[in-house]
Amino acid sequence: MKNIVILISGGGSNMAAIVRASQKEDWSRRFGARVAAVVSNKGTAGGLVFAKEQGLDTHVLDHKTYADREAFDAALAAVIDRYHTPQEPVLVVLAGFMRILTPDFVEHYAGRLVNIHPSLLPAFGGLHTHQRALDAGCKFAGATVHLVTAELDHGPILQQAVVPVLPDDTAASLAARVLTQEHQIYPRAIAGLLSKK
Ligand code: GAR
Repeated sequence: MKNIVILISGGGSNMAAIVRASQKEDWSRRFGARVAAVVSNKGTAGGLVFAKEQGLDTHVLDHKTYADREAFDAALAAVIDRYHTPQEPVLVVLAGFMRILTPDFVEHYAGRLVNIHPSLLPAFGGLHTHQRALDAGCKFAGATVHLVTAELDHGPILQQAVVPVLPDDTAASLAARVLTQEHQIYPRAIAGLLSKK
């Protein structure tokens, strides 16, 4: 069984969409894969409640309790690697995980670390993507699922979704429209990766 470990920091709606898709589309039978665990860097992350309800393993690693980024990432990798065997490498899914990862961490999971970003990359990497798209006068916005490489919000693109920017949009209304598309493309991108492995 291939294990998927999902990393969150907040509401976890993308994580929930992936868990639901894995159940509905029977990823266990189709791909020999299952969502095994959800890891958060915040104990208050709303997504942990859903993950527990689903019977998934949950882990909280508060980044503030580690001396530096390297120490946190090493502890994070130690937790994730409990779900890894050489025959069945773990797939690590960043779903609103609001931490910059060290190059060592990214290298350790090269080719099996995916992220979703709420913009049409390579435009608007980093934070405040929706406000920046509005400020730039973009007529379209969207989201991108990509393999993670050492450079922040870069890496081979697996899926994208496009939404219109409407005249009266605020960052919040645009974010909500983009998020509904994220819930479609993220499970699809992961299923695509699993079908190849
Ligand atoms: C999503 O919009 C995701 O794309 C974004 O955070 C939100 C998390 O929502 N991620 C980033 O901005 C990463 N740079 P969720 O917790 O409900 O899935």
